[in-house]
Amino acid sequence: MCGIIGYIGKNCEKVLLTGLKRLEYRGYDSAGMTVSRDGEFVTYKEVGEVKNLEKIVSLSEDFGYGIAHTRWATHGSISLENTHPHFSANGSVALVHNGIIENFEELKNDLLAKSIRFYGQTDSEVVAKMFDKLNINSLRYVLKRLVGSYALVLLSKDGEQLYFAKNRSPLYVARGEDCVMIASDPSCFVDFADSYFELEDGDYGKISLKNDVFYNKNDEKIEKMPKKIDFNFLSEDKSGYEHYMIKEIYQSRLVLESLIERYQTTNLKAKLEEIKHLEFDRIYLVGCGTAYHAGLVGQSYLNERFNIDTFCDIASELPNKNYNIDSHSLCIFISQSGETADTISALKFCKERDAHIVALTNVEYSTIAHLADINLPIFAGQEKSVASTKAYFAQCVTIYILSCFLQGKDYVEPLKIFKNHIDFGDDNELKKLAKVVARYDKVFFIGRGKDYITSQEVSLKLKEITYIFSTAVASGELKHGSLSLVDDKFLTVVISSDKEQFAKTLSNAYEIKSRGGKLLLITSLFVDSDVRGNFDYVLEVPKTENDLLPMQIILPLQKLAYFTACERGNNPDKPRNLAKSVTVE
Ligand code: G6P
Repeated sequence: MCGIIGYIGKNCEKVLLTGLKRLEYRGYDSAGMTVSRDGEFVTYKEVGEVKNLEKIVSLSEDFGYGIAHTRWATHGSISLENTHPHFSANGSVALVHNGIIENFEELKNDLLAKSIRFYGQTDSEVVAKMFDKLNINSLRYVLKRLVGSYALVLLSKDGEQLYFAKNRSPLYVARGEDCVMIASDPSCFVDFADSYFELEDGDYGKISLKNDVFYNKNDEKIEKMPKKIDFNFLSEDKSGYEHYMIKEIYQSRLVLESLIERYQTTNLKAKLEEIKHLEFDRIYLVGCGTAYHAGLVGQSYLNERFNIDTFCDIASELPNKNYNIDSHSLCIFISQSGETADTISALKFCKERDAHIVALTNVEYSTIAHLADINLPIFAGQEKSVASTKAYFAQCVTIYILSCFLQGKDYVEPLKIFKNHIDFGDDNELKKLAKVVARYDKVFFIGRGKDYITSQEVSLKLKEITYIFSTAVASGELKHGSLSLVDDKFLTVVISSDKEQFAKTLSNAYEIKSRGGKLLLITSLFVDSDVRGNFDYVLEVPKTENDLLPMQIILPLQKLAYFTACERGNNPDKPRNLAKSVTVE
């Protein structure tokens, strides 16, 4: 799972490096590029972020043909050998790949039998070694043998074009004046084009300075219509903040403003209306990671309001659950990127069963938005930090809007009041607390109802960027197993915003205290001094209307996770081992 780019034009190395930086959200384990000029390849590879590659690349203003890659390791270790581009055995063809070739072992064995030598362990290198020359026929021949997902861009030493193919991994093409580019994400085109061509699964072909040739999966030559792109979405700078993550947490206020405004427009109200008129008797909310937690928040709204069974599941598990998904099911897919492979696969599973498909995405040109019957945009603007913050906030608000609309309840007024009182917590207090949390290696988050959902999301945030072992446990469930882990080196964060559940949650917290565990209470309730005295630390978080509490409470807690990561010396924007958009299952 990775980001790939190909470019024909002047300043080849510089353009490729800029593009790779825009694609780094897809992985940053290693990066590489190959540029061809006068029939010769020059290749650079470096382990780690694109900035490491940048240090070794010699820039040239001259015209060139180039391909480049930023990697999130799937097959094979993080090493130079496994860094793309990979080459054909005779060295004349270079290739970059995003996706997973499922039958690579079988293909590799065939090549090994022909004494072809491999340098690394990637499935991608196997595809490169299947070529000895590059033209449309050799590409077609290789594609017929591949099983799996791929976006491929290939370059030959003597060629004046780039070849490409796409199946279940995104790939786009754009033309500028005297240049052409192909990339995993249209954000790479921002400097020279305002429209792009979208490739469909099974498409392949070639691009050159003169023209593009597209074939579809039936080997028919096809014409592509350009699509416009709104690049206002992109945000390249940190606006004075030290990291994107903290900037993005604070952007939640703007996101809320934008959602209130946009979801009063005729266009979006028409989409909500369309959903209201669909015939369904079950609702499924589906996502991965943070998006799944937004689904849980959505499930709590929908369950409270409708006499309809509402389920929420992680995308990779949905197909294993034998749910009764059919034409009476409303399936809502939540995905910031709109490119998460697990979510795409679950969506296709539901589509095959004739379910109504609604997407909640942040990227309107994404695969999930494209595959859905109705797309509800979340208007969070580009999110660069791997740990999702403002997008989670926006997903929760959008589902709140949808559930209010379906129920005929006003959402504008409550959201406006929320916007005027939105509170991100006190920095000094949060930083002090972050110093405490950073000292622990094991953390439980406990809560009940919506507080349990918030516990799951904050726990995920904390582990993603601090590398502290953390897990969320439903308060009542603690005594059924997890309590055995508690000792004086364990911190338990108790989240409590529901008055009715407070007494029970408190008892669960005391069960921890009696076993020597340390306690941090996070609450929006009034807590008297006797109760406070039982906690090692207390953080009061702002109150708001009950329905909106999950969106309010999460804000200071995202900051707590952020400050804890900084306290531990980590870069919160680029946590180890992770990628923002996971395009493999
Ligand atoms: C990755 C990211 C998470 C994100 C999840 C779902 O695992 O690291 O932060 O929540 O994917 O991403 P999506 O783009 O589908 O919301």
